[in-house]
Amino acid sequence: MERRALGRTGIDVPAVGMGTWLTFDVTSPADVAARRDVVTAALDAGSNLFDSSPMYGAAETVLAGALDRRRDRAVVATKVWSSSAAEGRRQIDRALALYGGRVDVYQVHNLVAARQWLPVLQGLKREGKVRVVGVTHYAHSAFGDLARAMRSGEVEQVQLPYNVEDRAVERELLPLAADLGLGVLVMRPFGEGSLVRRSPPAARLAPLREYGVTTWAQALLKWILSDPRVHCAIPATTRVQHARDTAAAGDPPWFDRETREYVRRLAE
Ligand SMILES: NC(=O)c1ccc[n+]([C@@H]2O[C@H](COP(=O)([O-])OP(=O)(O)OC[C@H]3O[C@@H](n4cnc5c(N)ncnc54)[C@H](OP(=O)(O)O)[C@@H]3O)[C@@H](O)[C@H]2O)c1
Repeated sequence: MERRALGRTGIDVPAVGMGTWLTFDVTSPADVAARRDVVTAALDAGSNLFDSSPMYGAAETVLAGALDRRRDRAVVATKVWSSSAAEGRRQIDRALALYGGRVDVYQVHNLVAARQWLPVLQGLKREGKVRVVGVTHYAHSAFGDLARAMRSGEVEQVQLPYNVEDRAVERELLPLAADLGLGVLVMRPFGEGSLVRRSPPAARLAPLREYGVTTWAQALLKWILSDPRVHCAIPATTRVQHARDTAAAGDPPWFDRETREYVRRLAE
């Protein structure tokens, strides 16, 4: 698994990490044990960045339980998501307790009360409890606000949506992140699953074999990771096999411009 410097943050991350929205919001013992197996598969493959949020129900807790004594092998990215000072503080205290007193990448989820939380997260960074402070948003209508937050000087990392069908970030946000030296995590690499379910016939993937690509999921991920402004894509999965499959897209060679265009056309 290729590791990339996360902008100028001083930490490095795997090219392929893992999201936990919906997939880790589980409570039955069988489901919780199955997610532990998914985390084990990811760690074994070098895919050791995990993204969560208090918005994702039980996900932060299930992830912490799955990591267990392997916490130090992981880069944990989570978020604060509240406009209430008391509730946000409770979220932060809970996450710090779950992850051994340290969150590696702490993001303001969807910029909710960002002006309130960024100084708090920067304070935790000075105390050594947070390594990187960032922001996220999924909505194109919020990209202006995201750009302002990125320029604020209080943000070292951004999480944004990017895939073959959703390329709006190419206009302003990716160039800005590169100019400012911010770390970039990519959410929704498979369009919440809709893109990966529409696999082209196997014969049309054959030209991608020289890039180590054998599945449509790998082609979609490699398309994203071939943009050097991206540091880590975070697909979510409930399955061990899918965790291994996506992790295998995290190594060079990367697509050239023509091959990226070929993959984009396959997705039409
Ligand atoms: N505002 C925000 O901060 C924000 C917003 C959205 C997302 N995010 C983050 O980004 C992460 C990823 O986005 P997402 O969860 O919306 O969607 P996604 O990663 O684009 O797609 C997830 C879907 O892809 C399927 N999948 C995964 N690997 C596969 C493979 N190898 N082959 C075939 N299918 C595969 C999964 O099904 P299986 O379970 O069957 O594998 C799942 O249904 C989230 O989990 C979250 O951590 C953040």
